[in-house]
This record gives sequence, structure tokens and C-alpha cells, in this order.
Amino acid sequence: MKDVAVIGIGMTKFGELWNQSLRDIFVEAALKAIENSKVDHIDSIYVGTMSSGLFVGQEHIGAVMTDYLGMNPIPATRVESACASGGAAFRQAYLEIASGQSEIVLAGGVEKMTDGADVTESLATAADQEYEVYNGVTFPGLYAMIARAHMHQFGTTREQLAAVAVKNHKNGSMNPNAQFRSQVSLEQVMKSTMVADPLRLLDCSPVSDGAAAVILCSMDAAKKFTNNPIKVIASAQASDTITLHSRESLTTLKAVSAAAVKAYKQAGIKPADINFAEAHDCFTIAEIVITEELGFFEKGKGGAAVEQGLTSLNGKIPINSSGGLKSKGHPVGATGIAQIIELYEQLTGKAGDRQVNNARIGLAQNMGGSGASCIIHILEAI
Ligand code: COA
Repeated sequence: MKDVAVIGIGMTKFGELWNQSLRDIFVEAALKAIENSKVDHIDSIYVGTMSSGLFVGQEHIGAVMTDYLGMNPIPATRVESACASGGAAFRQAYLEIASGQSEIVLAGGVEKMTDGADVTESLATAADQEYEVYNGVTFPGLYAMIARAHMHQFGTTREQLAAVAVKNHKNGSMNPNAQFRSQVSLEQVMKSTMVADPLRLLDCSPVSDGAAAVILCSMDAAKKFTNNPIKVIASAQASDTITLHSRESLTTLKAVSAAAVKAYKQAGIKPADINFAEAHDCFTIAEIVITEELGFFEKGKGGAAVEQGLTSLNGKIPINSSGGLKSKGHPVGATGIAQIIELYEQLTGKAGDRQVNNARIGLAQNMGGSGASCIIHILEAI
């Protein structure tokens, strides 16, 4: 396997981008990444999108995007793993370079969710239609069940859930690309509109438009374009049952722990060696469970950890320095790539006011549905 590096990034602002179409935002992010990396060619493209067909009626996304980028005839492939589609696109690009098949690959992600589709129903296609959605449950409801079980089993409190939103909005206030740059107080989260008990509006990631792209390159070739390549030291993926009720426990996310074990093994490191992480906080409870599954905290202690500031920007292990899905926004197909962008900015020391001290190794965890798929990447500044 060849060593692989990230050498350039580009993204749109996340939010309600009503003046631009799906292809406009992808092209904007991709051109920014190409310009940022100064590459002289691209061998192929992977595009992560969860549901462009349902959201805006456009499929065949690989072909649409290479065409509008003016890059025909290079190969372009759409990749889908629900909300982990961006992470899956990055992994395919990584594998293509690691295998020696290509030298330079663009991995991007895109979603346009605010153009009028029934978003909750469209997102719910990533849950089990026959057992879950048919009976009326959608993602806020599924994560609410995880939250209730975690509260019951470990004593996790409503305030601890809210603390995740407070922290992530604070971090997002320092991110110029974030959808919500406003800070929120614990009280505001606790009093926000109920969505699915115990989860309230400010426990949820928003509905967003956005695109993100990165350029991956073999480490050998990277030296031609940059003095600062960021090495991909692990790429791992795992799966779990599609339905919550088939799991032994509602409070574990086995795809996350399984992918994490593989990723740490490939990188030859332990959880304690990670300096900071982007975690898939589609709902506040998700971040708490994920930090436990990644081995940062003992099972059941994730809620206390956020409350004690251990996951804050200056804490023991900063989580979601970008603002996370909660504040930065969650255009589902783009999220996994935007997480890689945050890692790149932190590892190159370009994260501005939200810069993590001594950021040398970062982890990005991207998850599909209620955790049925998970993709983890670890990047290192060399
Ligand atoms: N966080 C912070 N603010 C939010 C928000 C969020 N998640 N969602 C909406 N808002 C704000 C809006 O900007 C708006 O503010 P304004 O009145 O100042 O303009 C206000 O709250 C109401 O917005 P609205 O669009 O009416 O909210 P909604 O009720 O239609 O949607 C949710 C709110 C929580 C239901 C929606 O964001 C949602 O479904 N989120 C989950 C998405 C999801 O499931 N993703 C996949 C995860 S697996």
C-alpha cells in the first residue's frame, strides 16, 4: 500500500444556499480544493451524496459533477452510505491511491436539503422502512430512544446533553463556514422546542445545504505540490444492524467501536494518542455515545466528560472544534468531507480562533443513520 496525503481543501459555507443549485455548490467546493492544492491534474473523482434524487431530483451525480467541472473524461463515481457518504467517498479515494491505481484524486460531498423536499421523510429512508419508518419513527425519535436508554442506564442528565450543544455552538461561532454562528446557553437548549422527548430543537443538527472537497495524493507525488502534506494514517469502516431493536444494547454503537479498533491498529496508536476529533453529533446524545465508543471515556462517562469541559477546545480531548454537525450544519453527503477539512485546517495550524493547541493527530468519525455504518479516518501532521 502506498502512503496517502491530503494536500488541499475547499468548501462552501453551510446553511440555506437558495441562490445556488446542487451542481453550483459542488463545483464551487471542488474548484476551491483544486486551486488550494495547486495540482496539475486529477485522475478521478468520488462524490458522496445521500439522497440527491429525493432532495432535488438529480441522480447520476458523478457524471453531472465531472461534466460541470469540465473534467470529462476522467472517471467519476457517486458513493452513498447515508450520512456517512462523504466519509465513504474519502475512503474510496484513499484506497484508489493506496492501491497504486491513481496518483491524485478529488473526494467531495454534497447535499442540497432546503429546496422543498420533505426532509424528515427523505432522511428516514436511511432507517429501516419495514420495521422502523412504517411504525412512525424517524431519526429524532431513534436518537431520543438512545438518549433515554443512556439516561436510564448511566444517569446521563438532560444538562449533559445540552452541554454538547453549548460547546459546539461556541466552537462554531469561530468557524466562518458554519450555518449557526450564534452561541447558545444551557438554559436556551433546555427550553428550546421539544422535537422527540428528551431531544429538543437545539439538540438536533439542522437541515443544511453545502458542499466540501479535498484533494488526496500519493505521499511521493505530494512533495511536488506542498511542503505540508497531511498523512492519512488510518482508514476504517464497519457496519451494524439497520434497526435499533436488533441491537443487544441501545446505548452502544458497535460500528463505531469496530471501526475505531481497526483504525487504531492501522495507525499503530491508542485513543490517548489522538489530540482532537470530529465526531458525528447529528444529535447531542450521539456525540456522548461516540466519545465512549472511540475509547476517549469509559462507557457511561461521556456525559460527565462534556459537562466537566474535557471535550472543550482547551480540554483533554477537544471534540468538534469545527462546531460539529450541530452548529456548522449537516448537509448529509458533505459532512464526512467537511470533517476531514477541519482536521486539515487544525493539523496545518490554520484553524484561526478555534485552533487546538499542539494538534498533531486528529480523528474524523462519520456515521450513517442510527449507526448502521461508520467510517473513521485518522490524519497526522508529519
Ligand atoms: N439548531 C439550531 N437552530 C435551528 C435548528 C437546529 N437544528 N433547526 C432550526 N433552527 C432554527 C431556524 O434557523 C429557525 O430560526 P429563526 O426562527 O430565527 O429563523 C428556527 O430554529 C425554526 O426553524 P424551522 O426551520 O422552523 O425548524 P423546523 O422545526 O422545521 O426543524 C428540526 C427543526 C430540529 C426538526 C430540524 O432541524 C431537523 O429535522 N433536524 C434533524 C436533521 C436530521 O435528522 N439529520 C440527520 C441525522 S441522522
